[in-house]
Parts: sequence; C-alpha cells; structure tokens
Amino acid sequence: MATVNKAPTKPNKITAKKGDVILQLIADHEKVKKLFKQYEKLAKKGNIAGKALIANQICAELTVHATAEEEIFYTKALSATHDDDLINEANVEHDSAKSLIAQIQALDPSDPMYDAKVTVLGEYIDHHVEEEETEMFPEVRKAKVDLAALDEKLTARKKVLFAQLTDKNGVIDQAALKAMANKVAAHSH
Ligand SMILES: [Fe+2]
Ligand SMILES: [Fe+2]
Repeated sequence: MATVNKAPTKPNKITAKKGDVILQLIADHEKVKKLFKQYEKLAKKGNIAGKALIANQICAELTVHATAEEEIFYTKALSATHDDDLINEANVEHDSAKSLIAQIQALDPSDPMYDAKVTVLGEYIDHHVEEEETEMFPEVRKAKVDLAALDEKLTARKKVLFAQLTDKNGVIDQAALKAMANKVAAHSH
C-alpha cells in the first residue's frame, strides 16, 4: 500500500559545507534530483497525494534556488567571467523552468498532463544543472570570486524566500507557493 509522507518538509535545511557557494548550489541540485526520483516512484504507484506533496517540494526548492541563484550568483558570475552567452543561456533555462513550475501549480495532480510536466521539468533541470556544474561553476571558480561571502548571502536569501513559502512548522503553504511561482514566471528575462 502506498504511503503518504506527512512529516513536515524542511526545505531550508542546508547540508552543504559552509563557506563555498558553489558547494551549496551543487547540494541544492542533488537534493532536487532525489526529489524527482521520489516523484517518479510515487507517480508509478498512482499515489496522487504523495506525488503532489513531492511535486510541491520540487517547485518550492527550484523557485527558491533559481531566484536566489540569479540574484546572488549569476550577477557575480557575469561580472567575474564576462561570459554573457553562458549567463544569458542559463537565464533562459531558468525562465523555461519557472514557466513549467507555474503550469504545474495551476494543475490538479490528477490531471493527465501533471506527470508529463513534472517529468519534462526534471529533464530541463538535468540539462541546466549539467551546464552549470561543468561550464559555469568552473569558470567562476577560476575568476577568484569571494565564494564564502556569496555563500552567506545565498543562505540568507534562501531562508527569507523559504519563510515566505512555509508555515511555522516548515510545511509548504500551497497558496503562497502558487503565488510566488506565478510572480517569478511573470518576470521573464
Ligand atoms: Fe543551480
Ligand atoms: Fe541555475
């Protein structure tokens, strides 16, 4: 029998080693990849409530990650590497993900298109993360940016954003998530 995880989610738990923003960004990527795998299993079992819970967690994690990453990391990455093409491409990829997240938030989890949208979001993210980790992050590392300072800023910004999406027990507030997803999707590059 399928079980639904009712435990409060703790999206703001930072597992990365402190002092290096790139490690924190990679830890976020790993966390979300695991969530996509969990989603796939629950969807296969036909566990609608369970998969919806994970999909919301994916949407929350990605919305916070993308917003904080753009504000704190991409701006610095651009000024350090002057690689406009790389950052522009990453921003376009963020926009595609944000649009899909808003679409997922607008759908009922029992809708036949729900799984397709979550699956394609996972594929977009895989591709995007691969480019960040193999191209953008090594370039930024070479440019000798203060990664510790950015790490602190990213942690603080993510905390503020997560607080807007969760109740006092750390449980995702779907109405707040939907509102934030729509807001960020409307601000395309
Ligand atoms: Fe990222
Ligand atoms: Fe990104």
